[in-house]
Amino acid sequence: MLPAKAFHIPPVLIFGSGASERVGEESRKLGVEKGLIITDEVLINLGILDSIKRALSQAKVQFAIYSGVFTEPTVEFVQEGLKTYKQNGCDFLLAVGGGSAIDTAKAIAVMVTNVGSIEDYMGLNKIPKGGIPLIVIPTTAGTGSEVTQFTIITDTKRDVKMLIGSPFLIPQEAIVDPLLTLSMPRGLTAATGIDALTHAIEAYVSVKAQPMSDIFCLSAIELISGNLRQAWSNGNNIEAREKTMLGALQAGIAFSNSSVALVHGMSRPVGAYFHVAHGVSNATLLGVVTEFSLIGNPTRYARIAKAMRENVERLTILEAADLAAKSIKRLIKDIKIPSLQQLGVDKAKLDKLAPQMAEDAIASGSPANNPRQATKEEIIGLYKLAYLQ
Ligand SMILES: [Fe+2]
Repeated sequence: MLPAKAFHIPPVLIFGSGASERVGEESRKLGVEKGLIITDEVLINLGILDSIKRALSQAKVQFAIYSGVFTEPTVEFVQEGLKTYKQNGCDFLLAVGGGSAIDTAKAIAVMVTNVGSIEDYMGLNKIPKGGIPLIVIPTTAGTGSEVTQFTIITDTKRDVKMLIGSPFLIPQEAIVDPLLTLSMPRGLTAATGIDALTHAIEAYVSVKAQPMSDIFCLSAIELISGNLRQAWSNGNNIEAREKTMLGALQAGIAFSNSSVALVHGMSRPVGAYFHVAHGVSNATLLGVVTEFSLIGNPTRYARIAKAMRENVERLTILEAADLAAKSIKRLIKDIKIPSLQQLGVDKAKLDKLAPQMAEDAIASGSPANNPRQATKEEIIGLYKLAYLQ
């Protein structure tokens, strides 16, 4: 029996090389007049905003800029951005950047129309009203934030990464332009690419998987695993950049409508306690967590091996599932994502913190979606195994 499930995506999605040049006309279609661009200084200095600003001016759409998103999003960024929005008399938001700029803008968009502070809406489906129009233009191929119903905002006073989920957080429009990712350095290409692959794999094996998201998962796994090495090897390989970004977009749609699972649950504490970037911490865990989880749903992991273009024809289901884990590990090794050891994570500190990290992981709720349920002791063991990779 198939339980009834909703499937949410932005009303408008534009994908393709050069898509960002359409931002002016797309803004006009929304009937808006002045936008606040949420971005960061690095992108401004790289000149990535130049063509976007030009397109807005040509369409006679006014804009102001908030470029204060210099780390992962915080409550303060949301407050500052909201203040800038009001001071400049804006009527829509435009996020240009990686997951941080986009997550910040998503939170501001709903705080224009809802009372109180963003902390009041921590958790799922707590936001009463839809936000103002928001167009997002991602500059990395990974987080999928341009299409998801989630935002993660850090409450710096309590040191808590708040997960906020609501269909009201889905942007009105996502303009996804692979040409904007050409300047991503190798390390960022690798980390964001593995984050996207993790989204697709976890959404596919999740106990919350649904037929609509399955299609996006398998396509994303094929696109990312088949093109990430090439995008990493030569950042100017436009075809590889296009296919990797399309995969990341599809993976975002998939996990927004299914869920993530144990890797993401375990990854957040690694980021919080050791300041490891999200994609990198996922990469340090994905191989060992796949090996651990595959007996929970070997058929699905065997299908992942096939999507990764492994030859599974003469293999049993379990052998093919094992091959998926091997294939994932090889990809991570090929694109040289550093291990926890290479990142300088202190083994004694990890051993000491592992019980707390395991509790934090379980509390996030994501491990409950895993095909093999993990006990606290098993999660501690997985952190230790990941360190030895
Ligand atoms: Fe992620």
